[in-house]
Amino acid sequence: MPARIVGTGSALPALCISNQKLEEYIDTTDEWIRSRTGIEERHIAVEETTASMAVSAAKAAMENAGVKAQEIDLIIAGSVSGDMCFPSLACQIQGAVLAENAIAFDVNAACAGFLFGLSIAEAYFTSGMAKTALIIGAETLSKMMDWNDRSTCVLFGDGAGAAIVKKDEKGIMGLVQGSDGGRGDALTCQNRPVNNPFVKNPTDLDYTKMDGQAVYRFAVKTVPASITQALEKAGVDAGEVKYFLLHQANIRIIEAVAKKLGQPIEKFPTNLQKCGNISAASVPILLDYVNKSGKLQKGDRIVLAGFGAGLTWAAAVLTW
Ligand code: ACO
Repeated sequence: MPARIVGTGSALPALCISNQKLEEYIDTTDEWIRSRTGIEERHIAVEETTASMAVSAAKAAMENAGVKAQEIDLIIAGSVSGDMCFPSLACQIQGAVLAENAIAFDVNAACAGFLFGLSIAEAYFTSGMAKTALIIGAETLSKMMDWNDRSTCVLFGDGAGAAIVKKDEKGIMGLVQGSDGGRGDALTCQNRPVNNPFVKNPTDLDYTKMDGQAVYRFAVKTVPASITQALEKAGVDAGEVKYFLLHQANIRIIEAVAKKLGQPIEKFPTNLQKCGNISAASVPILLDYVNKSGKLQKGDRIVLAGFGAGLTWAAAVLTW
């Protein structure tokens, strides 16, 4: 499959809020959050916006890849929390980085958004419609939370990650995607409710709602299955994979996936302890951390996997 990641970048808000700090605002404890999720702290936007973080991450990825804005012919932004209904986040990024030769659009696949973007880029490359893509996952989830609902607001954070992907004979070796709208009720956030002069009783704006245990059951079943399918497609054995970079929802999900795949937990780097769950931004931020820490060598096999609201999921086996 003709797509290779050649550079990464990320950006987090300046404000970092520990579990202990949250205790001052919410009826929760560090012990509850840490033991059930692994999360210790998260970054929360105050001055930053989804677009400002996305642009910072995009510029960092362009610099890391050594790619100029004019070379980019495709921009795909995965997000459920853009600042604007329109223009799209991708168009905002295009305007800010001056990538005037690009086609730019958003994808809403929640926590699988970055992987869905990668898959679309690969299809554009295969069809000859593009050669150099900028793919971003960016979220300001703190504005989607009911801060009186302790079962959701403690889990999420804000931030952005980005990657430059180029048409290349080597790169993505196997990629699978799936969606199940029939189970979409497990994790929802309403958009603006209908409110016009003809509505008798307009409803209030609603926030994120989650059936945590349903999401957990979905993740521990679907993620190992989708990774196994992607490995089969790629003709790669799980033992050959250096790192499995999973969406950073919950340490217990990651541990369960490692166990099901029969792979040591050391192959599953995490940053959820420091970032919480940042939906579409989780995978590219983690990829950037691993890349910048110098742990990846050319030719390494890695797996990326995203899963979340929709329900949606995707897994990709890559050669670095
Ligand atoms: N602090 C303290 N107590 C809390 C908190 C909190 N922040 N939140 C809930 N509780 C309480 C509840 O009120 C409940 O109390 P009760 O027994 O007196 O009624 C108790 O803790 C247990 O609540 P549960 O919801 O049953 O907790 P559970 O053990 O299922 O853990 C969790 C919740 C961590 C969300 C778990 O279901 C899970 O790991 N789900 C996976 C889903 C996930 O990670 N989603 C992230 C977003 S989706 C995605 O990115 C794929």
